[in-house]
Amino acid sequence: MCMGQVENFVDELACLRRSFRKDDYGPVAAKAAPHPGVVRQGFNLLGRGLTRLVAAADRSLEWLHLLPKLDEERLSRLILSNHAVSERERVREAIGGKVEAPWYVRGVYDILCLLIDVLFENRPIQRFWFLETVARMPYFSYISCLHLYESLGWWRAAAELRKIHFAEEWNELHHLQIMESLGGDQLWFDRFVGYHSAIVYYWVLVLLYVASPSLAYTFSELLEAHAVDTYGEFLDANEPLLKSLAPPLVAAEYYRSCDLYLFDEFQTSNATPRTPPLENLYDVFCAIKEDEGEHVKTMHACVDSSLVAGLAARKDLPRRV
Ligand SMILES: [Fe+2]
Ligand SMILES: [Fe+2]
Repeated sequence: MCMGQVENFVDELACLRRSFRKDDYGPVAAKAAPHPGVVRQGFNLLGRGLTRLVAAADRSLEWLHLLPKLDEERLSRLILSNHAVSERERVREAIGGKVEAPWYVRGVYDILCLLIDVLFENRPIQRFWFLETVARMPYFSYISCLHLYESLGWWRAAAELRKIHFAEEWNELHHLQIMESLGGDQLWFDRFVGYHSAIVYYWVLVLLYVASPSLAYTFSELLEAHAVDTYGEFLDANEPLLKSLAPPLVAAEYYRSCDLYLFDEFQTSNATPRTPPLENLYDVFCAIKEDEGEHVKTMHACVDSSLVAGLAARKDLPRRV
């Protein structure tokens, strides 16, 4: 039997176990026959009893270490301490990594962080899903404004900058899809808060960008630096568990794509193209953390205009396609 067949068998067994434990077929049967006759009721009762019996046997075999832990349960054991993230941020700022921002920008940022801490306490994957949902919005805002400036004939040179922001948004989109593949968007409340926050955030940043692009980029830099701290703390707190989990398919499709044009496009500070390892979920989160680090550098370069100065030269750089 080849490795691929073994992996396929392992995946199918895990799916089968989840199906019994969550009683996947129960709601389907109820929907198919809302008013079952006596015979169907009998079959339903028998089916439900068998499902519970197999689920109980599966839990017992897992408890006896005769079957491995199911991924969902391992995912629910992932932890993240708000206090540890704040401490990491404090240390970074103390050793010279502080993002300089006016008090009112910093104030809004602090309130936002507090809100995220309260809403997503001990729910790291949901927290990351929320962060990645709103993380795309600045790039949408910047592209919208740059598009307007171009349309009005004010600043056509910004086309290259639009390309970088699109590549950054494309990167955040894949972070978001990874969090969705891990179940980060399962709660209606989280989706409600995430999507509505994203719409508000988009318009706030459009207005801020129109008023002052450097302030808008500073705010983004603050949030991207916070993302680096959060992912860094998450990696350190969950390393063995994350290393025991397989990477989601969407991560492999993005980081191992045969077309890495957009992946390379947002790495404005990297001369050598990155090829992150992707053996397990730990590697995936390391890659995400490094991506966020690149976003910090790009946002910083946008604040002090050093990126804008090098835009023309970027056109001639070799690309991996
Ligand atoms: Fe992200
Ligand atoms: Fe980011």
